[in-house]
Amino acid sequence: MLKPMNENYFCKPMTSNTLQKKIFLETYGCQMNEYDSELVRSILKKENFEFVVDELAADIVMLNTCAIREHAHRKVYGRVHSIRHARGQERPVMIGILGCMATNLRQDLLEDRSLKIDFIAGPDSYKRLPQLIQEASCDGQKSYDVTLSEFETYSDVYPSRQEGGVNAWLAVMRGCNNFCTFCVVPYTRGRERSRSPENIVDEVRRLAAEGFKQVTLLGQNVNSYCYDDHDFAYLMDEVSKVENIERIRFSSPHPKDFPDRFLDLMVANPKICKHIHLPLQAGNNRILDMMNRTYTNEDFLNLVDKIRTKIPNVALTTDVIVGFPTETDGEFEDTLEIVTRARFDSAFIFKYSERHGTIASKEYPDDVTEEIKTERIMQLNKIQKEITYQKNLAHVGETQTVLLEPYPEAKNKNLMPGRTDGNILVILPQGPYKGGDMIKVRITAATPHALKGQSV
Ligand code: 5AD
Ligand code: SF4
Repeated sequence: MLKPMNENYFCKPMTSNTLQKKIFLETYGCQMNEYDSELVRSILKKENFEFVVDELAADIVMLNTCAIREHAHRKVYGRVHSIRHARGQERPVMIGILGCMATNLRQDLLEDRSLKIDFIAGPDSYKRLPQLIQEASCDGQKSYDVTLSEFETYSDVYPSRQEGGVNAWLAVMRGCNNFCTFCVVPYTRGRERSRSPENIVDEVRRLAAEGFKQVTLLGQNVNSYCYDDHDFAYLMDEVSKVENIERIRFSSPHPKDFPDRFLDLMVANPKICKHIHLPLQAGNNRILDMMNRTYTNEDFLNLVDKIRTKIPNVALTTDVIVGFPTETDGEFEDTLEIVTRARFDSAFIFKYSERHGTIASKEYPDDVTEEIKTERIMQLNKIQKEITYQKNLAHVGETQTVLLEPYPEAKNKNLMPGRTDGNILVILPQGPYKGGDMIKVRITAATPHALKGQSV
């Protein structure tokens, strides 16, 4: 239970002079973390904390961290030192670590004297943040809560999103039960749990009323969504009935949960974008088995074929890890072959990096050298870049419906970005349209990274 905010809640009297309530929040990692930062803003704004954009103007700096990415660890350590350094001795700042690294590395963080972290909150403890900040500010103590919950879904918190946005992230489930051997998520975010469809649809209605045009349903394993007897297909169908929401996306699914019923719904429902992010991870069966992915490369290719047969214009993207423990050159070539055959529209390719606490870190020594991982990632990137370019070129001459993003291009204010249904970036000249508009665009040129177009 949270203590009520009253005069006695903070150790010093709550006057605007003595209360240190200006927060600078920095977010690392995935879309789920961006969404969690919106939850954190909402929870703390209710307690009269203020969020500032100038780090030096803040009393409290919070880093919402990611434990998946390579070097995440080192980056956050470096960042904490740079925050302290920028202040000097005279203007101390309170530093809090949130998110996946908080859970995974709490012991290291608390014991590392040079870091001087004041408070730590894991992904299921954000409602306790006001209390954790208060405890840390009272007696110079460190405070932390990294307990994982089987129930917390934050369904009672309405995230504080950026005003004027076009896309809203919305977590429909949290946690993961899959235990892929390389992945830290089941340990940092706990077991799978889903929000009720009614609660999600209510939030989507509110988003539509606020002017959002697109909702991206998020989950670590989003298509295993399950609430009572309701599956992910049911949820998508319900969400799509909300008026004024034009597009629905989802991220990230697991290849094991793609019933025909869901693919049929994608075909039939014009609001559901024809884009599936389908993480392959590896193309060799021994490695897939060691990863505990529960499918073979043949199963994966069959699923790709089935999806493409049902939804011919679908965009498929993927994640691949190179250099998983014991992966041989020949086994890596299987991955090259599957990537070449699947012809993904784009891919995120990672070097395997051992994560503390995972099954792989305990059972398989990280024995592929950095040099070989670099060689493999370069080889795979080269092949994928060419496929992406060819696929982008195939769109030239087409007319696509593009949802315009809220801001002009950062580099050239005369240009406007938007996204196709397949989530490809399209750049077009400024015109009599604005962010949030859905317009018809003729695709005039392609690069390996984006399309260029003209409104028609
Ligand atoms: N090493 C490298 N890549 C990883 N990913 C997850 N864990 C690791 C790891 N230990 C990648 C997977 C996942 C994506 C989000 O991050 O490809 O799909
Ligand atoms: Fe990690 Fe696998 Fe769960 Fe994805 S499905 S979050 S890779 S354990």
